[in-house]
Amino acid sequence: MKFAFSEISLPKRGSLALAVFADNELSPTAKDVDKITKGAITRALGSSRFKGKIGNFLEILAPVGLEVSRIVLFGLGEVEKLSQTDLETVGGSLVKKLNSAGARSVTVIVDELATDDIRTSDAAAAIAMGAMLGSYRFQKYKTDIDETSEPTLVRMTLSCKSSAVARKAFADMEAIVEGVFLTRDLVSEPANSLYPESFAERCLELTSLGIEVEVLDEAKMQRLGMGALLGVGQGSTRDSRLVIMQWNGATGKKASRKPLAFVGKGVCFDTGGISLKPAAGMEQMKWDMGGAGTVTGLMKALAGRKAKINVVGVIGCVENMPDGNAMRPGDIVTSMSGQTIEVLNTDAEGRLVLADALWYTQDRFKPEFMVNLATLTGAIIVTLGHENAGMFGNNDELAERIFAAGKEVGEGVWRLPMSDAYAKQIKSPIADLQNIGTGGRGAGSIVAAEFLAKFVNDVPWVHLDIAGMAWSSTDKPTVPKGGTGYGVRLLDRLVHDHYEGK
Ligand code: BES
Ligand code: MN
Ligand code: ZN
Repeated sequence: MKFAFSEISLPKRGSLALAVFADNELSPTAKDVDKITKGAITRALGSSRFKGKIGNFLEILAPVGLEVSRIVLFGLGEVEKLSQTDLETVGGSLVKKLNSAGARSVTVIVDELATDDIRTSDAAAAIAMGAMLGSYRFQKYKTDIDETSEPTLVRMTLSCKSSAVARKAFADMEAIVEGVFLTRDLVSEPANSLYPESFAERCLELTSLGIEVEVLDEAKMQRLGMGALLGVGQGSTRDSRLVIMQWNGATGKKASRKPLAFVGKGVCFDTGGISLKPAAGMEQMKWDMGGAGTVTGLMKALAGRKAKINVVGVIGCVENMPDGNAMRPGDIVTSMSGQTIEVLNTDAEGRLVLADALWYTQDRFKPEFMVNLATLTGAIIVTLGHENAGMFGNNDELAERIFAAGKEVGEGVWRLPMSDAYAKQIKSPIADLQNIGTGGRGAGSIVAAEFLAKFVNDVPWVHLDIAGMAWSSTDKPTVPKGGTGYGVRLLDRLVHDHYEGK
């Protein structure tokens, strides 16, 4: 789908989308069009349940007096209450409506929403961003495509005042959405196609954007002493990989600043290992690399919009399989940090992977902060469902910034507590640590976070447990079913709001 921006003018063909506010107050252009069509809009509104709310749509086909094929009215509710995410929702829903109607092109008129032009251009860009996010599909494995149900919309023109400003705002958004799409692609890819080596190859493709990519193989990780990560991968015929991506966008005095670091769990398939998972639903564990997928998409987004900041992304890629050579419950592994870990459950593998990835990252880069993302625990879904990621950390300022960024982009996070009382649960009687707590099913996500904390070496750190967020089983206006790309926009906003240009 292509996006274009123009000053306000009525199109000669295609579809025309017009805004209506709360209680069916027409936008200025809708008023004009109502006159041109001899009252078609007011008549249509009078005979429908449309009330001008967000989520309200009304189609008028073949309007008299205009050459367009249809008018779509979309509700914007009360202007003072409009948020960026509302506008994205409108854009995403509009794409859906137009595709099911068979429209090929649409001009969306974004009249002045307030007295301020800039706000209107931001609104236009937000609608376009929502439309782009909602247009995503993962179809590479479909060979029996039914042409009659294929999306038809190929072009959206946003027509607004200060359209050049809107076009510019959208250029950055487009780069961010490309990052989200990469994450969605990676997350949706099955494990026979996406495994540590092929994941690393996908990362290497990012060099074309100016990202430096290094790939550590098992021999190198062995030399670094990454016994925890390697232990998880040892039952798989697929070799493990650690991928390090660096984007050095900072210039001038800032060029030598410590980088921001993002670390991801990349378990390309999680069978549970010898502590095997039940069969039902196990196919979902192809997206257990969601944290790594988000880190990779984030790197693409930041490089794509040429963010003026130094960032490093590190992902630990493994496959957790049962096998004659697999790690056994009770095995003791030595992590890169030197701490020994008694592996009481081979299904608590993400924390083992992150143990070495986090330690390596802080040790090599001495970053300003580390944020890790992981589909770490089923327990976080019990706690927060699919509305918020779980947040844990050792730094209030960083946590508050992430919370605020999540609010802005509509990707929720909710912080949960950590304390020594929980940390006590992962003391092993015969090693330094054990990989599951003594408290049974209680506080599983917190205990997992306490385990990670042992490997951050006091660097400002936040852990996001995204097990409930990486995948969606329902279609939403800007997030179709499948891999969601959760976290790319959130962390891009964090970087943008607090670390660039300062
Ligand atoms: N990958 C899973 C967590 C998960 C569950 C992600 C459901 C997405 C959806 C993780 O490796 C795991 O198996 N965790 C165990 C930990 C337990 C053994 C302490 C869990 O949550 O049951
Ligand atoms: Mn597991
Ligand atoms: Zn897992």
